[in-house]
Amino acid sequence: MPHPLTLPFAPRRILVGGQDHVAIAESIRQARPDLEVRNAAPAQITAADLEWAECFVGFRPPRSTQAMGNVRWVHSTGAGVDAWLNDPALDPAVLLTRSAESFGPMIAEWAVARVFAIQQQLPSLMRAQQAHEWAPRDIAQVAGTRALLLGTGDIGRAIATALRALGCEVIGVSRSGQSTHAAFTRVHTTDALPSLVGDADWIISSLPDTPDTRGLVSRDVLSRCRGAALLNAGRGAVVEEAALPEALERGWLRAAALDVFVREPLPVGSPLWDDPRVIVSPHISGLTTTAGAVAGFLECAEALGRGEWPRWVVDRERGY
Ligand code: GLV
Repeated sequence: MPHPLTLPFAPRRILVGGQDHVAIAESIRQARPDLEVRNAAPAQITAADLEWAECFVGFRPPRSTQAMGNVRWVHSTGAGVDAWLNDPALDPAVLLTRSAESFGPMIAEWAVARVFAIQQQLPSLMRAQQAHEWAPRDIAQVAGTRALLLGTGDIGRAIATALRALGCEVIGVSRSGQSTHAAFTRVHTTDALPSLVGDADWIISSLPDTPDTRGLVSRDVLSRCRGAALLNAGRGAVVEEAALPEALERGWLRAAALDVFVREPLPVGSPLWDDPRVIVSPHISGLTTTAGAVAGFLECAEALGRGEWPRWVVDRERGY
């Protein structure tokens, strides 16, 4: 059994508290008129709401209150559940499920856009254009380069497939070191990372923030890179962010495209904003859609209604 709760367990009072709470709650009401559904903006959730609710649907714990009241099931509308796992208010006996949405295709497009932007030197060409400067340079092809993908799950596989189609060789790194997906030439366990980064043109992380992944791309690992570009669409904490300016300055990295950061929003004083080799995006590479969030919740609720554990129960030890 994946969880200390026992079946049957089918919560009926649902509190939707994420950003898109109005639309998500409305769709759940339409699909499941038998459930009682309340919704509130994350900052407006009260202790009384959480006393009332048996299930909470949202991306992060509500900021307005510390305790989760009577909530026995949390459904995360995001893929990464670190905000929940790191929340001391979340009792280990609470069932945690995560979004069933496939973020792979969208994050693969995010990655491909950055791979081309870096290879085609788009940021610097646009700066030259703004200065009315004719600035010829050698641009490089993506085909024939080698990508090292950290994470070979749904998202890693979608990125691998896209890069493979562009003529890249794709090597994977994962917890198990196993992947049968054809887009990867080979897959290693994470402990091989320091020996692999020196041969990579691209290092692309889609890893979640777990005790195993935190700080994995350390200063030591960065110091072994030989001019790779680092792309991060997983979680900021996987990379030793404080070492990035040095890694760029010393040429360990030739560029970085970062969608996730240790602190979000990225503090205004971060040197990453001003580094011309860095492309910052505000955690938008894989967006939760209302339809995806609702479908994930409904699938889990239906499984529980049948007296089964949903497919999307988070393994708290693993962290995803
Ligand atoms: C976004 O970062 C998510 O975890 O869904």
